[in-house]
Amino acid sequence: MKDAAPQAIHLSAYTPPAYLVDSVALTFRLHPTATRVLSTVRFRPNPAHPEPGDLRLDGEGLMLMAAAIDGAPVAATPDASGVTIPAGLLPGGAFEWTAEVEIAPQANTALEGLYMSNGMYCTQCEAEGFRKITFYPDRPDVMAPFRVRIESDLPLLMSNGNPVDAGWAEWDDPHPKPSYLFALVAGDLVAHRDRFTTRSGRDVALNIWVRPGDEGRCAFAMEALKRSMHWDEEVYAREYDLDIFNIVAVDDFNMGAMENKGLNIFNSKFVLAAPETATDADFERIEAIIAHEYFHNWTGNRITCRDWFQLSLKEGLTVFRDQQFSGDMRSHAVKRIEDVLNLRARQFREDDGPLAHPVRPASYVEINNFYTATVYEKGAELIRMLHLLVGSEGYKAALDLYFDRHDGQACTIEDWLRVFEDATGRDLAQFKRWYEQAGTPRLAVAEDWDGTTYTLTLRQHTPPTPGQPEKTPVPIPVSVGLLSQDGGELRATTVLELTAAEQSFAFEGLPQRPIPSILRGFSAPVILERASTAAERAFLLAHDTDPFNKFEAGRALARDVLTGMITDGAAPGPDHLDALARMLRDDGLDPAFRALALGLPSEDNMAQSLHDAGAEPDPAAIHAARERLTREMAAHLEPVLDALYTDMAQPGPFSPAPRAAGCRALRLAALRLLARVDDGARAERLFGEADNMTEQLGALAALLEIGAGEAAAAAFYRQWRGDRLVLDKWFALQIARAAPERAVALTRALTGHADFDWRNPNRFRAVIGALPANAAGFHDPSGSGYRLVADWLIRLDPLNPQTAARMSTAFDTWRRYGPQRQALMRAELERIRATDGLSRDMGEMVGRMLD
Ligand code: PHE
Ligand code: ZN
Repeated sequence: MKDAAPQAIHLSAYTPPAYLVDSVALTFRLHPTATRVLSTVRFRPNPAHPEPGDLRLDGEGLMLMAAAIDGAPVAATPDASGVTIPAGLLPGGAFEWTAEVEIAPQANTALEGLYMSNGMYCTQCEAEGFRKITFYPDRPDVMAPFRVRIESDLPLLMSNGNPVDAGWAEWDDPHPKPSYLFALVAGDLVAHRDRFTTRSGRDVALNIWVRPGDEGRCAFAMEALKRSMHWDEEVYAREYDLDIFNIVAVDDFNMGAMENKGLNIFNSKFVLAAPETATDADFERIEAIIAHEYFHNWTGNRITCRDWFQLSLKEGLTVFRDQQFSGDMRSHAVKRIEDVLNLRARQFREDDGPLAHPVRPASYVEINNFYTATVYEKGAELIRMLHLLVGSEGYKAALDLYFDRHDGQACTIEDWLRVFEDATGRDLAQFKRWYEQAGTPRLAVAEDWDGTTYTLTLRQHTPPTPGQPEKTPVPIPVSVGLLSQDGGELRATTVLELTAAEQSFAFEGLPQRPIPSILRGFSAPVILERASTAAERAFLLAHDTDPFNKFEAGRALARDVLTGMITDGAAPGPDHLDALARMLRDDGLDPAFRALALGLPSEDNMAQSLHDAGAEPDPAAIHAARERLTREMAAHLEPVLDALYTDMAQPGPFSPAPRAAGCRALRLAALRLLARVDDGARAERLFGEADNMTEQLGALAALLEIGAGEAAAAAFYRQWRGDRLVLDKWFALQIARAAPERAVALTRALTGHADFDWRNPNRFRAVIGALPANAAGFHDPSGSGYRLVADWLIRLDPLNPQTAARMSTAFDTWRRYGPQRQALMRAELERIRATDGLSRDMGEMVGRMLD
């Protein structure tokens, strides 16, 4: 018998909490199988609630040992999701609830609540993990100051806020916070220490806590933290507000990192970095995630979300802030391109399938399933559009008002939009649709030229998404520049505001027919539908002054070439290759930009774009075309690639600085192509000589891609078998770069490897998650790839539903493919759905994908 379908929660059903909390005091008596949690919570009826009634507290999997109201024991019998104290047992005004519960952190494989990792205790409470620690109104609109005492023999004991005593057994957090920001850590850890003085003179102790032996890999994260603190003071006038800021690295973690007040907890892969073990991409990501979690202190913690439907209020904004920061630290042009590639790969894919949902969803079954690219990355795009529409000054005024007005509050998207309206006088009623309507708008363009006036007609259309058959127009800011035939600027960038389904914009008094550069900087998260010639794309790749559109022209050129190869068996023409050669030779261009511009659209991207054009994508054909084009590029571009490979070599000791990283990226992009013409000779040499992980892994990737990486992979394993983070790379890279016909067998073989510790989320993702990244391998026509992934999801689900459910998105594109693949994928989804005891997380995901 299966349980009744879990109930959906609706935004429209929100009601304020019946009781507010004035203070929380917790004592933890830590024990792996029998931890006692003593809580004292001071409640008072919410004046905003007409009739507070019963006291309902959330609680899951807790053994209640004792409970009392104002010191008098109450007989309370918990149900599966909490406990209710009837109004009749409450005094009427304020009162104190005390309880003692027992939990077993060692048995906690879901990694939510209090759990153990390598002998260390740690917590993860967002979104609803606190209810697995004690009984409490576990909702973000209940904010309270916390005081925490930890009893344990372990040397390091930490919670949120400032330590009360020298031994750190007691912590006090004066800033009212929701329970999802609670954290506790206890273990035997060592610190990399530093200090930061805020601009008003507060001296803050900074510590990054890691396992003994890892302390030499913290310096980069610490520097990134200090840069983040300084940047938030300079750009947003936000200062840190405690005397200490602790970061803890943990090996078992479902997500990237968590912004608990004063005690951030990180997946160790986003903290630990040394040149020999971390790639340039790792360094960049660490800097961004350190910044992201730190920025949450104001956007998320001081101002939090009223309910989980408002998740993008903190996540979209904080992603936007970390993108701004990374742009300032590195290159805005390169960062923008990377962000758009990521948006297209993850969010456009999501928006185009059965899992599409608005940035502010209207309902959910399991909130863990809504930490998505839409809430995060599309949410950030919405803020970027607001920024563009109101300008830097307007944005700054709105943000100042936001912090002023809402500090200490739990807010909504309405509150957020209202500060923009109040600060700038702009009406954002239509803009709000962006938060409520799912799907990626298509933007079609028609042009007219009458000899002096150039007219652009823009038309928007958003395809239906689950539950939203009809769409209404959204306001789309379209940045446009006009170029002359000789590559000069006829008109500088202007922002056209498309608000209707269709609108025309005229540019008058032009001396010649312009070449338009549309959607500069990717000014809106839309799909631009504009057919163009290879010659025009090559012209823009050579001449566009907007770096994003310059990149985009090359990308579109490559996409058109690949499309022709796949659909008509066309041969790659010279336009694309010649344009690439010119681009690569342009020493005025940032090497990081050139590396990106040399890349091809991913296989999944191609599948999406073919499907969009009404074709049935065949992953094998896409892979073959991409391989063939790669070989053509190698053959045609060999001289310039060879020169770059030599010129981009970095002398001296490794530096993760952006310039050096960009040179390495270009050099390795050249190497990958050159491997196709030198049988991997250069890659073999680099693999042997490399003194840093970027080049070692880059060389290994080049060898694996040409099917000549076996010896190097074995050597890599011997060298790095003792390093868990590097070993994750070893697992993932081999699978992702395997020839399609070998990918499933290789994945299966690696699941039998002694180091495949599938209970560790990073390792599970490195192996099982790498197969879907090998699109043609995963989509093997036999269905063996689908079966393997589904088998493992079924196995992980009862232990760790959150991670298992997230990875089920491997199947979310099933309706894109031909009838055979569709039937095979559907069968796997149904097999998952029919599994006994399926988690609420997984049940919701497969249900959405199937229905
Ligand atoms: N709030 C975290 C972040 O975005 C992500 C997270 C969500 C981590 C849920 C753990 C659990 O920074
Ligand atoms: Zn976040």
